[in-house]
Amino acid sequence: MIPSQKTGLAGIDIRMVRRISRIAIARGHAMPEAMTAPTGDGFDQKARDAVYRAMFTRRDVRSHFTSEAIDDEVLARLLLAAHHAPSVGFMQPWNFIVIRDVARREKVRDLFLAAREQELPEMEAERQALYRKLKLEGISESALNICITCDRERSKGSPLGRWHNPEMDLYSTVCAVQNFWLAARAEGVGVGWVSIIEAHALKALLSIPGHVTPVAYLCVGRVSQFAPRPDLETHGWGQRLPLPELIMSETYRGQGEAPLKSTVARLKSVEAEPHGQRVAPAVPQREPPKEASALSFNSLNLEDASASR
Ligand SMILES: Cc1cc2nc3c(=O)[nH]c(=O)nc-3n(C[C@H](O)[C@H](O)[C@H](O)COP(=O)(O)O)c2cc1C
Repeated sequence: MIPSQKTGLAGIDIRMVRRISRIAIARGHAMPEAMTAPTGDGFDQKARDAVYRAMFTRRDVRSHFTSEAIDDEVLARLLLAAHHAPSVGFMQPWNFIVIRDVARREKVRDLFLAAREQELPEMEAERQALYRKLKLEGISESALNICITCDRERSKGSPLGRWHNPEMDLYSTVCAVQNFWLAARAEGVGVGWVSIIEAHALKALLSIPGHVTPVAYLCVGRVSQFAPRPDLETHGWGQRLPLPELIMSETYRGQGEAPLKSTVARLKSVEAEPHGQRVAPAVPQREPPKEASALSFNSLNLEDASASR
């Protein structure tokens, strides 16, 4: 496939993608001109809060899918967001396989069940019982599945940025996944990433050629709720690591950056609100009031913010 003629969207040519964009824009659904206009300014406070809100309330969804269908218009916007991800050498290595067929999804679920059994013995003995109880996919309950792939040969012959680091195409594809995931959150669509699947078996099931890597298998659908915390945290599997401990200065394990770390620690303490409510750190205004520190904190409550929209 020649990248200049075809987009990363499987089987869809560039004219169709442009048409989808035009329809979405005409209907006021995606990227009006003002949003795409180049400007050096940051977003206004409301827009910035919305961006952070998508990030802090995004969830990996497995349990709360409803049977409601997803409009193609919504799905088109999510794909368009994914397609605007950064990519090494602008190679856009992705394709998006939309999987709606129930029988095919059942087969994917069988692959998951088999892979889970294989993974289980690798767990520490005391974690195996908990692992069995965890719900780790919503393949059949979600409205549809999407497999996001990486065509490792799309920029064959002109490997800008990939000569020393060939894996950058995979990283680029992960950026597309994250764009999709965040846009989905903003649209009220849940996404769950299922990686407990043997890749070769998945490739065979979806007729994915050898030079293409399935990067993400996603369960996508409307949800009854977005849980306030990661499922794995709620079920005692893991906790968010303290961010200050992950920050290094100048070199790996380099000490320093104490003011930054303490600022980050204060943000973390704001995040830990009672009743599972998450609080977004306020983004400083261009000219913060004198008494405010470099990073000020307001008490924007995300649930309240959604109610007042
Ligand atoms: C690369 C990747 C693979 C993942 N694979 C699975 C999976 O197979 N099953 C699952 O339930 N969750 C999977 N997840 C979701 C993580 O468990 C989840 O992101 C993490 O627990 C934090 O929760 P949150 O996404 O709700 O914040 C995966 C996430 C990533 C980024």
